[in-house]
Amino acid sequence: MLSKWINPIYLDESYIRLLQQTLLAKPEAKYLVLDNFFKTNKLDEMIRRHNRLEFSEQLDQYSHVDNSKVPYDSAVKFMDESNYGFDLLFSKEWSNYLKRLVSLDCTEETFTEVKLRYHKPHANGFWIHTDSLRWKIVCIVYFNKDWKVSDGGLLQLWRPDECSLETAPRVDAYLDSKMNYLTNNVRLKTSSVGGCRPDDRDWVDFVLTDQIVPAYNRVFISNIEKNLTYHSVSPSNERARTGFVQWIGVDEDLQKIEMKQSGGRWIDQ
Ligand SMILES: [Fe+2]
Repeated sequence: MLSKWINPIYLDESYIRLLQQTLLAKPEAKYLVLDNFFKTNKLDEMIRRHNRLEFSEQLDQYSHVDNSKVPYDSAVKFMDESNYGFDLLFSKEWSNYLKRLVSLDCTEETFTEVKLRYHKPHANGFWIHTDSLRWKIVCIVYFNKDWKVSDGGLLQLWRPDECSLETAPRVDAYLDSKMNYLTNNVRLKTSSVGGCRPDDRDWVDFVLTDQIVPAYNRVFISNIEKNLTYHSVSPSNERARTGFVQWIGVDEDLQKIEMKQSGGRWIDQ
């Protein structure tokens, strides 16, 4: 299964060991950016079918927890058996491979969810938040050929800073407006991180630590078990943007609630 989809270098044992060490060496967020990851015949077929899907903004822009509007800009189709790539992404070989790459040591039953995504042109962006309250691994795959920094839509990584500088712009998670402050600042002060930590009583500075271009056949993978890995997506310009995100978790009670709405499932171990 893996060798049908993945370029051989990423299945080479010595290279996997190097990637494990590369990730472990990261001082804060534990992540890898892997280029030319999939075999292009498989990825191109996935993109061809992706472009014919219908995506729902409603499903992606409202909280599963309390149905409140979230500050995000995408539309989603939850992956199920009808989608190309399901056999790979919902296989135990794949989830075990991801766990190995990011050195996630877990023998519990694994739950996963895949959002196939479409971001319209001039998307607003996605405010700083963390996925780690519910998940242990996040894996994002990008489909966008010749994407430029000037096209926007960058995946941004942030760390909370010990300092609180007066000069840091004080902003919050505005809904329904373009979040240009994500593009224009490397330090921001906020009291509300996408509805998650820190809570409304605290104003905290966040410092930008990296930006990932959402380029074709690029995979971003992160172990978010122990590090909150705050991230955002900067607003985009003329071009639509596509790809998918997969989460892997083990928290039985939480995931059972999610499963009803998301098409997520348990992976046989
Ligand atoms: Fe996220």
